[in-house]
Amino acid sequence: MLYSGPAFSAAALGDGIVELKFDLAGESVNKLNQAALRDFDAATQAIAKDASVKGVIVTSGKPVFIVGADITEFGGMFAAGEEALVKGLIETNKTLCRFEDLPVPTVVAINGVCLGGGLELALAADYRVASTAASMGFPEVKLGIFPGFGGSVRMPRVIGIDNAVEWICAGADKKADAALKDGAVDAVVAPEQLRDAAIAMVKQAIAGKLDWKARRAEKLAPVKLNKIEQTMAFNSSMAVVGAQAGPNYPAPMLALKNMQEGVALPRDAALEVEAKYFAKAALTPQANALIGVFLADQGVKKAAGAWEKKSKKEIKQAAVLGAGIMGGGIAYQSAFKGTPIVMKDIRDDALALGMNEAGKLLSKQVEKGRMTPAKMSETLARIRPTLNYGDFGTVDIIIEAVVENPKVKKAVFAEVEPLLREDTIIASNTSTISISHLAESLKRPQNFVGMHFFNPVNMMPLVEVIRGKQSSDEAVAATVKLASKMGKTPIVVNDCPGFFVNRVLFPYFDGFHMLLRDGADFLAIDKVMEKFGWPMGPAYLLDVVGMDTAVHAGDVMAAGFPDRMAKDWKNTTQVLVENQRFGQKNGKGYYVYAPDKKGKPKKTVDPTVSELIKGVVAARKEFTPEEIIARCMVPMVNEVARCLEEKIVASPYEADMALLYGIGFPPFRGGACRYVDQTGVANFVAMADKLAPLGKLYEAPKLLRDMAAAGKKFFG
Ligand SMILES: NC(=O)c1ccc[n+]([C@@H]2O[C@H](COP(=O)([O-])OP(=O)(O)OC[C@H]3O[C@@H](n4cnc5c(N)ncnc54)[C@H](O)[C@@H]3O)[C@@H](O)[C@H]2O)c1
Repeated sequence: MLYSGPAFSAAALGDGIVELKFDLAGESVNKLNQAALRDFDAATQAIAKDASVKGVIVTSGKPVFIVGADITEFGGMFAAGEEALVKGLIETNKTLCRFEDLPVPTVVAINGVCLGGGLELALAADYRVASTAASMGFPEVKLGIFPGFGGSVRMPRVIGIDNAVEWICAGADKKADAALKDGAVDAVVAPEQLRDAAIAMVKQAIAGKLDWKARRAEKLAPVKLNKIEQTMAFNSSMAVVGAQAGPNYPAPMLALKNMQEGVALPRDAALEVEAKYFAKAALTPQANALIGVFLADQGVKKAAGAWEKKSKKEIKQAAVLGAGIMGGGIAYQSAFKGTPIVMKDIRDDALALGMNEAGKLLSKQVEKGRMTPAKMSETLARIRPTLNYGDFGTVDIIIEAVVENPKVKKAVFAEVEPLLREDTIIASNTSTISISHLAESLKRPQNFVGMHFFNPVNMMPLVEVIRGKQSSDEAVAATVKLASKMGKTPIVVNDCPGFFVNRVLFPYFDGFHMLLRDGADFLAIDKVMEKFGWPMGPAYLLDVVGMDTAVHAGDVMAAGFPDRMAKDWKNTTQVLVENQRFGQKNGKGYYVYAPDKKGKPKKTVDPTVSELIKGVVAARKEFTPEEIIARCMVPMVNEVARCLEEKIVASPYEADMALLYGIGFPPFRGGACRYVDQTGVANFVAMADKLAPLGKLYEAPKLLRDMAAAGKKFFG
């Protein structure tokens, strides 16, 4: 053995060929953490010292090649500040350069996932051969950064500027054949032939049949394009990348500017440019938020995993009560992910509609080539529509999705519970009604939980699993397990009206309604809040949610939290509902809707709305964007803090992810808690204090005041 370390080993294979194998001790995957990089360097230097080595192949001892850098290390690295970060990157880059500069040819065998830092390591070799099972890419822009271990320097030299811009700025993964087409790998072979193919390739290079020296020289020199060609390549990319990324995601443009400077320089100088731009990207608030989101997502998945382990129950058969918007969506999602489901309604036409919706969603999968027609019929056959309780004695879980009325729900529970097995779980998809309150009508309240899906069910990643006062651990755990099996991200929360997400969403709507009451223009509010990063402004969102649904839910919230959510004035949404404007569902709300060419509802401004609402709004008044943002966001964030105080949601990272996955909180802001951190807790409290005369929703809760006084943040 030429070298053996905790991550890398180097062994002679004969004929002067060395296999440098990455097999990170104690981990299921290979990641390029600082320790692994140091080990890689030590292995490289051992190989460099051995004059008998004629060629090197790099392989992986895991099913993946390298999943990327260790993102948990970023916080510490970036906290050192711009100058130290640049210096550190230049040092780290020397590791890959020493490998690239070995006096012998090098071939990397990419067996599986090869992302970020993994691909950067692979690019430092002379040749890359991939298994058909491999996939590779630079997902860094999704974290608000871009490849900073030489990836943005080597990629344009290996695959050309246009291709490199696409790989780096779009951040998508590519399969092996696509990578071959772009020139990122030199050959693709069957998995079992990979190692032999790498050995054969390095032998060819050793024998001089492959001109590895010319290859390498290209990577060390500036990109071979004259100034005009370079300018043209980058100018066209600037417009495309700028438009795709938008103003809130600066990393792709920084990557591009960096490449524009770097391609004209030799490797080492280009690496310095890369380090400079990388540090700029890494220290943006967007990178801080997006890296936080990545880690929070892992935290949420881990918490769900811990719950799942607690469940002994297998969910083999599910049932859904109600075949409406939500029931139909739940049935589809359950069947799509492999759990058979009985769909019960009291109306034949509702069942037909539910089946029709599921059929439409599945047809789309077939049209896109993601599903065969045979699989589609198999999936549809997993949904069994019914008007009676026939074999409810065999179901493991029932998801209740009938109308949002506690009396109806309780009546349905009383009807169905005697027909069930002792251990069948009943989960309610209520969006606002307290789970402990609904449990009062049940004989086995321990089997009862909330399972709050978001609309449209097939698209929205979040499921809030609500633990009522009497819900058992098993009921919570089995529901979490089913939500994960349905492809959703479950977050367990405690019970209260609205649970977590709606409890904090309605104060945001209240803020919006108060702005309108005080003379703001809803078109201006939507524009400002969309610029803030929300996928849609509050007026548009109310139209999508359904105005009657929102008014009804608002009443439940007001009854639950009268001190701050009850009001003695009529809001604009109530007035529009009185005028039969229910939002997108009947084509008119704050906006009017007509199907576009693809049949999707397209919104346009309706001049009659201002006339309809004029009785409940003050004379038109201008509000600055800052005022609009503060008046909408402060009530929401304050309520998040109250939910943390009351342990409705267990942690700031779960709160942030619930808002991202449930209602599309702007990812580049990282969630409500991250938003407070980035605003500065004391600044946020001052902003709330200024608005406190508007009512209790604006009064910063104790948690935030204490944090501000102690100089604490939610994260880090
Ligand atoms: N629509 C949303 O955006 C949304 C989001 C999350 C949660 N929810 C909640 O999901 C539930 C259902 O909402 P929806 O929007 O799908 O309503 P919906 O009106 O579209 O569907 C309700 C369905 O329940 C059926 N139904 C009524 N009584 C029944 C009974 N006794 N047995 C069987 N079926 C019965 C109705 O025929 C109807 O098909 C509500 O509690 C709602 O608050 C809705």
